[in-house]
Amino acid sequence: MVVQHAHTSQTTPASLPPSVFTLPQTAQLEALYTIIRDKTTSRGDFLFYSDRIIRLLVEEGLNHLPVIPKTVETPTGATYEGVGFEGKICGVSILRAGEAMEAGLREVCRSVRIGKILIQRDEETAQPKLFYSKLPQDIKQRYVLLLDPMLATGGSAMKAVEVIMEQGVPEERIIFINLIASPEGLRAFCTRYPTLRVITGWIDEGLNEKAYIVPGLGDFGERRYCS
Ligand code: URA
Repeated sequence: MVVQHAHTSQTTPASLPPSVFTLPQTAQLEALYTIIRDKTTSRGDFLFYSDRIIRLLVEEGLNHLPVIPKTVETPTGATYEGVGFEGKICGVSILRAGEAMEAGLREVCRSVRIGKILIQRDEETAQPKLFYSKLPQDIKQRYVLLLDPMLATGGSAMKAVEVIMEQGVPEERIIFINLIASPEGLRAFCTRYPTLRVITGWIDEGLNEKAYIVPGLGDFGERRYCS
């Protein structure tokens, strides 16, 4: 048996758009994904380990926010020339699976405002349709962390960005945070929104005939909230 110690062999394909950033593909991260992909994993473990990945993703998302110089005085009386975040942020979760990422965002950004968007497939047109949205009133003055764990075809995420941009948020101020992406979903999303940064934990092989990501982890909402 070959034991891997540091980084796995997965690398970010050269063909990926420059706005896509993956988490460092370490053996630890792959171990976390292995647990949540396993169909025999209990709901409790699924919650625990998917939360760990979400936390890593949110921290990485925050690395993409601009900072400005900030000088403080320390208790020793010395000054420290550091940095502070340039703007305010908010989260927007795509219901229902994206709601699972809200706690991870709150853990690192205390009292962060979080909006919600519900998008479902319109059975007549087969297109993603907006059913509900509640966004922070001052969203256009904020950076937006858009939360959705699974980027399959990209339809819901693209519709959500459309809704957020209609509120006056430029695409450069939106950061999409996602656990697993399909290459085709990423391509469609990044072609439409080339300057919107995507932080994803893992890029999988593709989609099956039911538009599930493969190998994937099945239905994220089911795994998280049911059974
Ligand atoms: N949503 C999921 O929960 N799983 C997928 O594979 C695709 C979309």
